[in-house]
Amino acid sequence: MARRTLVVGNWKMNGLIETARELVDGILTGLSTRAGGAIAGEVVLCPPATALHAVNQRLEGSPVQLGGQDLSEHESGAHTGEICGAMLRNVGCRYVIVGHSERRAAWGENDERVARKMAAAFRDGLQPIVCVGETLAERDRGAALEVVGAQLEALYPWLPAQSIHRQALVVAYEPVWAIGTGRHAESGQIQEVHAFIRQSLSARLGEDGRMIRIVYGGSVKPSNAEAIFALEDVDGGLIGGAALDSADFLAIIDAVSEKF
Ligand code: PGA
Repeated sequence: MARRTLVVGNWKMNGLIETARELVDGILTGLSTRAGGAIAGEVVLCPPATALHAVNQRLEGSPVQLGGQDLSEHESGAHTGEICGAMLRNVGCRYVIVGHSERRAAWGENDERVARKMAAAFRDGLQPIVCVGETLAERDRGAALEVVGAQLEALYPWLPAQSIHRQALVVAYEPVWAIGTGRHAESGQIQEVHAFIRQSLSARLGEDGRMIRIVYGGSVKPSNAEAIFALEDVDGGLIGGAALDSADFLAIIDAVSEKF
C-alpha cells in the first residue's frame, strides 16, 4: 500500500480568531475549486490553541484536518498553562506536532520529553507529527545523520506496539537552520536524511516503518515545493511561513498532488 501524502500548516503564534477564520476560508474556498474539492493527500492545519475551536467549526464537513502545535506529556492535573491530548481531541484535533525545534530550543524539550509527548499523543488518540533535525553547527561538523539518528532512537522505546498506531506516526525532518530563514535544504541533503530516516524506521519497525510518513519542513514555498516533494522519500511537508498565506499554501498543496 502506498503512503498518503501529507501537507501540514503550522501557524505558530500567529492569528487572532478573525484572521484565523479568514485564512481557513481562503484555503477551503481554494480547495473547493480544485477537482471538485477532492484532495489527493491529507491536509492538516495547526492554528494556535486559542483559535482551534473557531477553525474547527469552519473545517466541519471539509476534508481538512485539525492539529495542535504541542501537547503536555501529562494526562491531566496541576500543570498550569499546559494543554493535554484529551483537550486537543475534545476541540477536534486529529494530529499534534511534537518536538518542534522552536520548543526544543526555547523550552528545553529534550529527546526523552519529546518521546513522552509522542506517547501521550498516542494514548489520547492523536497522530503525532514528531520533528527531528540538526542545527547548522551539527551539520557543519558532519553530524546531521548522527543527531537525527539519536532523536529517532529516543522514540522507539515509547512507540505503542500495535501496527495501527505505529503506522499513524509522522516524522518531520526539519533542519533547524532552514526554518524561517528562507534557506531550504538542497535536494541532495533532504533526500539523504529522508532515506536515512526511512532506513532507521524500516530496520526498527519492519513493514510498519515503511508505512510511516516522512515530511520535510524548512522554508518550503510555492517555488521550491514541487522539487522537494518529488524526492523519493519525501511524503509531504510541514509548512510554517507559507502556510499563513492561503494562495501560497494552496500552491504547495497543488505541488504535492503532482506526486500522484
Ligand atoms: P518555515 O517553518 O516554513 O517558516 O521555515 C517550518 C516549521 O517551522 O515547521
